[in-house]
Amino acid sequence: MQLEAKNISFGYSKSKKIIDNLSIRIPSGERTALIGPSGCGKSTLAKILAGYIKPDRGEVLFEGKPLPAKTYCPVQLIYQHPEKSINPRWKMRRTLNEAWKPEEGFIKKIGIEPEWMNRYPAELSGGEMQRFSIARALGPETRFILADEITTMLDVITQAQIWDLMLSVVRERNLGLFVVTHSEELAKQICNNIVYFEDLMK
Ligand SMILES: Nc1ncnc2c1ncn2[C@@H]1O[C@H](COP(=O)(O)OP(=O)(O)OP(=O)(O)O)[C@@H](O)[C@H]1O
Ligand SMILES: [Mg+2]
Repeated sequence: MQLEAKNISFGYSKSKKIIDNLSIRIPSGERTALIGPSGCGKSTLAKILAGYIKPDRGEVLFEGKPLPAKTYCPVQLIYQHPEKSINPRWKMRRTLNEAWKPEEGFIKKIGIEPEWMNRYPAELSGGEMQRFSIARALGPETRFILADEITTMLDVITQAQIWDLMLSVVRERNLGLFVVTHSEELAKQICNNIVYFEDLMK
């Protein structure tokens, strides 16, 4: 089982390629970190791997097949800026239930207080919001999580809590994990395999 990008190229404009003939194979049974400097294209690659952006060339395969376009995607991306990916006018309950309908026990396990469900995104702290993003991505059909700098904006204690939680769910459900980060230290703590962005396009 693996998530794979084969010879992908992509640019937001025709004149400038962000990703040029990149290939990567990420085994499902491992925790892999992607490290690279700011602006190099990590979030762009994560969006391509999750099927949100279609590459200009090349293909993304999960377990040997293209990602499904119409049914639930088993590869789920947790965003670097969760507030940008959700509707500011919806209460959190609606945002979460749009993805799937977790039971109360699951919500508790993720560390979401029931009362937060009735709030708008602007009424949550960064850490509280990120717990919702994690919950949203962990539907029963999820097989692989792409975590794009999900704790960069949080304090050290909250960071540790969020990663403990993520890793426990990843282990329990045997999910693949791909962690995008600037931090080599975090990568070493969480992952058993580190990939450097600049090495992927050689
Ligand atoms: N929607 C967009 N339209 C045009 N250019 C974009 C868009 N999103 C990103 N870019 C540009 O593409 C390049 C790669 O951006 P990306 O967000 O993938 O970098 P990153 O490696 O994730 O950076 P960071 O570590 O700061 O999050 C940057 O030069 C950025 O300005
Ligand atoms: Mg980024």
